Amino acid sequence: PRSIWISRHGESEYNLSGQIGGDANLSARGAQYAKLLPGLVKQSAGDRPLTVWTSTLKRTAQTARYLPYEKLSWKALDELDSGVCDGMTYAQIEAKYPQDFAARDEDKYNYRYLGGESYRDVVIRLEPIIMELERSENILIVTHQAVLRCIYAYFMGVSQEQSPWMEVPLHTLIKLTPRAYKTEEERMHADV
Ligand code: F6P
Repeated sequence: PRSIWISRHGESEYNLSGQIGGDANLSARGAQYAKLLPGLVKQSAGDRPLTVWTSTLKRTAQTARYLPYEKLSWKALDELDSGVCDGMTYAQIEAKYPQDFAARDEDKYNYRYLGGESYRDVVIRLEPIIMELERSENILIVTHQAVLRCIYAYFMGVSQEQSPWMEVPLHTLIKLTPRAYKTEEERMHADV
C-alpha cells in the first residue's frame, strides 16, 4: 500500500529561544537530527525511491540535506505566517498584544495573526499540496509544525478544526499508510 512520510525540520535556533516563525538555521541538535534522518527513513521505507518535499525555509532544506533523493521545495509548505508576531516569543506576544493572545486561545483554528494567517488559511493553501499528494507515491514531507498538523489531521480523518491540537513533535518520523477505513501510523523517534 501507499505510504506518506512526514517529519518536522530539526530543532532550529528559534525553537531553542522560543521564537515563532522566522527563517533560522538548525541548532546543533537539529543538525544531528538531519544526520540521523537518512537512516530512519531507510529503516522505514527500505529501498523505495522517495521524493522529498520541503518548504522554502532554510531549516527544512538543512534537515533534508543528507537525504539521497530528489527534492522539491514548495512555498505552500512554509510555516503558518505569524504576521506582526513573527520572531516573537509567546510571552512577548502576550505582553504586546494581550487581546490577540487571548483571542487565539479562544479560537486557535480561526484566529488570524495581524498581517498573517490562521490555521484555516493554512488548510486552504494546502489544498493543492493534498491533491498532489493524493496522486503521488513515495513522498517524504519535511516541513513545519502547524503545516504538518493540518496534513496529519487530513490523513487521520480528524476534522480540520482539530488540526491545532495534533501532536507532531520534533525529531520524529511519521509514516502514514491510508487504508480502507482508517490511516495506519507508525512513529520513529530519533535520539538526539
Ligand atoms: O514554534 C515553532 C512553530 O513552528 C512556530 O513557527 C509556529 O508559529 C508555531 O510552531 C505553531 O504552533 P502553534 O500554532 O501551537 O503556535
